[in-house]
Amino acid sequence: MTSSRLRVLIAATEIYPLAKTGGLADAAAALGAALVEIGFDVHFVMPAYAQALEQIWADGSLQPLPNINGLEGGMLLSGKMPDSGVPVHLVDLPTLYRDGGELYVDASGQARGDNPQRFAAFAHAACELALGDLELPGFDIVHCNDWQAGLIPLLLQIRAGAEAPATVFTIHNMAFQGQCPAEQWGELGVPLRPEQWPRVEYYGQASFLKAGLEFADQLTAVSPRYAEEIQTSEFGFGMEGIIQARRESLTGILNGIDVSIWSPERSPWIAAPYSVNSLTGKARCKQQVQQELGLETDPSAPLMTFIGRLTWQKMADVLLEALPRYFEAEPDRQFVLLGNGDRALEARYLALAATYPGRMAALIDYTEERAHQLHAGADILIHGSRFEPCGLTQMYSMRFGTIPVVRPVGGLADTVLDYSPESQASGLASGFQFEDPSPEGMLEGIQRAIELYRQPESWLALQRTAMTQDHSWSASARAYAGVYERARAGRAGG
Ligand code: ADP
Ligand code: GLC
Repeated sequence: MTSSRLRVLIAATEIYPLAKTGGLADAAAALGAALVEIGFDVHFVMPAYAQALEQIWADGSLQPLPNINGLEGGMLLSGKMPDSGVPVHLVDLPTLYRDGGELYVDASGQARGDNPQRFAAFAHAACELALGDLELPGFDIVHCNDWQAGLIPLLLQIRAGAEAPATVFTIHNMAFQGQCPAEQWGELGVPLRPEQWPRVEYYGQASFLKAGLEFADQLTAVSPRYAEEIQTSEFGFGMEGIIQARRESLTGILNGIDVSIWSPERSPWIAAPYSVNSLTGKARCKQQVQQELGLETDPSAPLMTFIGRLTWQKMADVLLEALPRYFEAEPDRQFVLLGNGDRALEARYLALAATYPGRMAALIDYTEERAHQLHAGADILIHGSRFEPCGLTQMYSMRFGTIPVVRPVGGLADTVLDYSPESQASGLASGFQFEDPSPEGMLEGIQRAIELYRQPESWLALQRTAMTQDHSWSASARAYAGVYERARAGRAGG
């Protein structure tokens, strides 16, 4: 295969386990490893946040970066990913990435004011690497992820024109667009020809996302359904016109999950391992969750969980409204929340937990360990989303035999097939869907799930189907290989 030695540089601003705020980190890490499996020479480039530097410092090698937008003293630390061994390059500009702040937001949860400078500098450094201007060979493909990497295709074009590597831009979330006030643009070191400004301008500001969508050779979205949805005003967040214009260059590719990590047989953190052939360990996991979180230790009580960011996207506000009715419907129902985000919602979930002692726990936090324990110990995952580009959480829960109740949008629609006696008879049912993004809609979906939960034989059949869905990365990695080919072919043809 001609692609077998292609050099691919994956630019992402979070990669698990070096840094993570959500699914991008998991998806980027696992895609890189899966591309290596099928023969690509893959490298990652990411900002050198303190927690990332610590993890690869010992075995890394350092080289100076050229002055970027007046920032002297930058370094590139090159090493290997702790688990997969994929080469990774960390862009170290300490004033931008090691100031003790969060990855993208300030203490109040708003986008950091210096984000344009931070991610423009990241794009400049990634271009140095991509073009072979550092002490490393250049790359054939640069795969950019989300708005933070949005300036890379444009900068490559400015610097190398037709000689630049082919570029692919992946949309993980259209809602985050990387706005930059027009007056700040001049400080970013991205000189535009006058006719190029409209391809970056968005309602008077510059948008890093728009630049990525306009200038990359190929676009991908993280599920086939999302690739369709973002062509509409409901899901396009104002970018639908650009997506429609570029639909011939857009491919929807479902994320996979790393099945070596998210596995009830291999997870190091759960009370007892189990598998699709024997789910007895799952009961122990449920008991552990109930005991540790102060819930009634009732093996037959339905235990529902929410694991995710407390945001509008995830319908965390709607769930909060639905919960009192959820509890009131039947006295044994339980619920555990793991997540953080909107500060007001965090406080309201804590207050609600206090009114349902023994039945509800709110963990305003996120750790991988607790996430595994809940995926293993719960019976039902509630995953209502107003929009969901792909969603990994529902795939993780399915692996653990925890049945997702989802809104059929984006990747949720592509991965969770609604239960009915017929869909179960044909071996397709893997969860429950509800359409209406209201507390009533959500409660209806949950009600259907709990009714089946009370019929152990049918529930077990559903668990088995969910657990045996193939969500590994291999098919998706091959689909990306096809996109890389198209990006290169488009370039060759001009
Ligand atoms: P999104 O990226 O939109 O948050 P995904 O379902 O794609 O949604 O990915 C969520 C990933 O982030 C999962 O690995 C999940 O366990 C993890 N996660 C969930 N909530 C949080 C949180 N509050 N902080 C960090 N990671 C989280
Ligand atoms: C984004 C999306 C999520 C997706 C993830 C990884 O964070 O919100 O749906 O799974 O990116 O692609």
